[in-house]
Amino acid sequence: MSNIALPFKRYTITSALPYANGPLHIGHLAGAYIPADIYVRFLRLNNKDVVYVCGSDEHGAAITIKAKKEGTTPQAIIDKYHAQIKLSFEQFGISFDIYHRTSEKIHHELSQEFFLNLYEKGEFIEQVTEQYYDEEYHQFLADRYITGTCPNCKSEGAYGDQCEKCGTSLNPTDLINPISTLSGKPPVLRETRHWYLPLDKYQPWLEEWLLEGKKEVLKPNVYGQCRSWLKSGLQPRSMTRDLDWGVDVPLEEAKGKKLYVWLDAPIGYISATKQWALDTGNDWEKYWKKQINPADDACLIHFIGKDNIVFHCITFPSILHAHGEYILPENVPANEFLNLEGDKLSTSRNHAVWLHEYLDEFPGKQDELRYVLTSILPETSDSEFTWKDFQARVNNELVAIFGNFINRVLVLSHKYFGGKVMETSQLTDTDRFIFSELERYPKHIAGSVTQFRFREALAQFMNVARLGNKYLADSEPWKLVKTDEERVKSVLNVSLQIAANLAIMARPFLPHTAQRMFAMLNFEAAGWQQAGRHDLLPAGHQLGEAQLLFEKITDEQVDAQLAKLSKAKETNARAAKTVPEAKPNISFEEFVRMDIRVGKILAAEKVAKTKKLLKLTIDTGIDRRTVVSGIAEFFAPEEVVGKQVAILVNLEPREIKGIVSQGMILMAEDKDGRLDFVVPQTEVQSGSTIR
Ligand code: 2FM
Ligand code: ZN
Repeated sequence: MSNIALPFKRYTITSALPYANGPLHIGHLAGAYIPADIYVRFLRLNNKDVVYVCGSDEHGAAITIKAKKEGTTPQAIIDKYHAQIKLSFEQFGISFDIYHRTSEKIHHELSQEFFLNLYEKGEFIEQVTEQYYDEEYHQFLADRYITGTCPNCKSEGAYGDQCEKCGTSLNPTDLINPISTLSGKPPVLRETRHWYLPLDKYQPWLEEWLLEGKKEVLKPNVYGQCRSWLKSGLQPRSMTRDLDWGVDVPLEEAKGKKLYVWLDAPIGYISATKQWALDTGNDWEKYWKKQINPADDACLIHFIGKDNIVFHCITFPSILHAHGEYILPENVPANEFLNLEGDKLSTSRNHAVWLHEYLDEFPGKQDELRYVLTSILPETSDSEFTWKDFQARVNNELVAIFGNFINRVLVLSHKYFGGKVMETSQLTDTDRFIFSELERYPKHIAGSVTQFRFREALAQFMNVARLGNKYLADSEPWKLVKTDEERVKSVLNVSLQIAANLAIMARPFLPHTAQRMFAMLNFEAAGWQQAGRHDLLPAGHQLGEAQLLFEKITDEQVDAQLAKLSKAKETNARAAKTVPEAKPNISFEEFVRMDIRVGKILAAEKVAKTKKLLKLTIDTGIDRRTVVSGIAEFFAPEEVVGKQVAILVNLEPREIKGIVSQGMILMAEDKDGRLDFVVPQTEVQSGSTIR
């Protein structure tokens, strides 16, 4: 279509390389993968030369910290999660040309080549400085190994290389009140040598290339962040680390040091392309290097989440610029964050919808999730996924409008005309209006997609389904068939042309559904340019079987998901309860004033009208006495009779529920508030003292 704004011949599309340190959740999909996949599918439908690359980010503290937590090796962690992540992407139809790994040799070599290229050009500042060090763990602390208060936005929990709240990139020594995440203690300073990328030197170039050159191109959220960082002035950033996991720094004098993960990870886009080219006999350089004629350069677009903006707009472009042979990103359409049921998505708190669990619980419903996530993509501000909204969008939009329309057209065509597309006779004004709308929508959708407005694009797609559904409902062919079969032929023909258009236009958004529609319509479109036509299915064309495209999401399914999230919350709340703080010291004299004895429970009964209290008769060795104890939720009266207990016998008697309680049974209480008796290991004489 001539008016589609896709001026480049060739496209290099990347989605952020996820850390291989955990499974994927809906926040990942909504951030960097669904938008990129829609865009790429759209490019392919428009016959563009496109490579779409991604892979696992397998270096850095994110991996080593996870390995420590799971008591295993970084290699075991990346192998496990790489496989799981790759499978989830495949299942959701994210159509990478390659899903690579940064642990591959080809990637290590390319990253080292980049480092050496800049090193030999004298780009790095080599410096011995004092850096934070954990004496207990004998380790320098950078990135996720150190946290503190962000000097920029003052929020807690900023990492040594970046504050994820405001996105600013940091050096560990910028942090206020730094704490080692290994020992939980404040670190000490020690000297170490590192190689720094002089971002301050590139600042004037960045201002020109980014602030001036991309003002009209970047999304406001992306542009605004970059402008504010550049305004506060860029600092050199170390590109090397004292770590034992990562790509080796390729210098004799840097033995044992590794490249900073944010140097090697974006190079992962290039190494993935190199591997893809090797596998498919392509030329990777066409997708990454500047061409002799700049008009032949590929268009590079990075799809990411907002926490990655600084690395894709400032650091990586500076590296590419310093290298000199590479193209720079045309655009970085970063998304904001997706929240879940009113709270931030969180891996550590298990507040998430995990993709592998979703597929277990909603088998075959990938497109339903793709649809809902696309409808609520956090394109301009954070957005919110709720299960009720998921249900409403699936039931009221996919089932009631889109699915219903497709099903009715197919079923009626089979019922009345043996599944054959019939000739249209006289077209009405309504038919002509439908055709003009059909012609209009593909251009609108294309306009939205090319401007990275995927929510808008999907809403327009849904309008086409709405148009079809209304046309069919208003035309009432099931009534008309009794009086005017000719008109029914036309109505179904027009409806089938709408259905065929929907199948084409569904391809970027709902790829699995589009495939099923092509099977049902017994037709496959060559590309987007066919969308808008009203002769896609010629008269006489035989349709395939009618199938239901979507099913309703039930209240029970929603309730089960909500219950799962509540359960995770409860588990967290319990885990969050820590051991109570230590009390201030007391003197020995104060301690010996307490008369604690071993006693034996002789009788027990519930205290009427209470849930928690038992009335106990205790042989203290000194006497028999009554003690009221709050243990009824954990022990039945008959369970405790005969048990030895520790009892504080000289506690002032107190009246509880009309019973005078003489003393107190000592109980152990865990963080969940569960009680248990404190008893001697072997039975001792009642009245024995405890001290
Ligand atoms: O934030 C993250 O999850 C990083 N692993 C993204 C890396 S993107 C790229 F540059 F590789
Ligand atoms: Zn901050």
